[in-house]
Amino acid sequence: MIDELARLPDPAAAHDELRRRGPHRTPDGRWVVAGAADVTAVLGSPAARIGFATDPARPVTAWQARMARFTDGAEHAPRRAAVQRLLAGLDPAALRADAAAATTARIAGVAELDAVVLGRQVPVAVLAAALGVGDPGAAVAAVAELAAALAPRLDAAPPPADAAVAALRDPLAHLPGDPAAAMGLLFQSYDATAALIGAAAARLDGGPVDVDRLVATVLRADGPVQLTTRVAGTGLAVGGRAVPAGDRVVVVLAAAGTDPADPARRSFAFGAGPHACPGAREAVAIAAGVLDALVAAGAAATGAVAAHEPRLNLRVPVGATLRLSAAPSGSPRPAG
Ligand code: HEM
Repeated sequence: MIDELARLPDPAAAHDELRRRGPHRTPDGRWVVAGAADVTAVLGSPAARIGFATDPARPVTAWQARMARFTDGAEHAPRRAAVQRLLAGLDPAALRADAAAATTARIAGVAELDAVVLGRQVPVAVLAAALGVGDPGAAVAAVAELAAALAPRLDAAPPPADAAVAALRDPLAHLPGDPAAAMGLLFQSYDATAALIGAAAARLDGGPVDVDRLVATVLRADGPVQLTTRVAGTGLAVGGRAVPAGDRVVVVLAAAGTDPADPARRSFAFGAGPHACPGAREAVAIAAGVLDALVAAGAAATGAVAAHEPRLNLRVPVGATLRLSAAPSGSPRPAG
């Protein structure tokens, strides 16, 4: 069940079941934690490691190893601080306005569009422009390839992405510190923000919407990042049981975020512990900006989301198609 979770039409029943079982092991030996308390404990434990190793046959993994998301222990803190320094220079209100303006420009004259396609273009373009990248469109193309390499779909082989890294390195060179920090920031923003935009857009019906509330609802009920994984270091315990070093642990964020036993009703949509998403404010602002523009254009979903991309952790809708009532009639063209 755990490997299909992100693709289930309605994962809520699976979340309930995983929490009810408590920490347990899959037949292939992975540990699964889904309750809010257990998820908090695992993600907060220094013995829960990312455990990333570079692959000499894939040079892009040497860049990946320099990104905060894939770094452990003493190496993680400075890499995360570098990302936080970049984010500190960004203003969420401006990002929201920029995302709305970029969306409005892209949907001008469009009658029908795929919200996930839009969600993969606008956030990275807005962030890249805010970071001072001269050609945000080129950055989007490079980040798409980087994301395909670092977070591939189950039905696609990861590309080498060496050209993507080369295309991003120079445009990010003016930023302080290791360009891997900005590269990681853009990579992290790519699929997850598109998933949020797609899931939220699929709920639009052409009428007025409280966008902030819609975003919050989707983050809780249709979490873009359903789960994350860790590798046990020495001394990790889940639910009072010792986890042997080297065992894999699946951490079901989306189940923890709907745990009725959590008195604080915390959201885990952006993770928890030292690797919790540092871009949550920016992600929400950009997604809201895109939705602001879609709502203003009278966007309505043409039907229910039929499927989700084949992925282990990200819940990305397929065919989140919108019709825009404010588009001029005549010769409708699909958004590219
Ligand atoms: C809706 C959109 C997003 C969601 C749901 C999301 C969620 C997450 C989650 C769950 C993690 C933790 C992964 C783990 O613990 O294994 C994470 C990490 C991260 N996210 Fe996001 N994210 C989103 C958008 C963004 C954006 C827009 C940015 C940048 C502006 C960003 C930057 C990062 C970075 C750099 C990390 C790694 C942090 C570290 O390891 O210290 N994310 N994100």
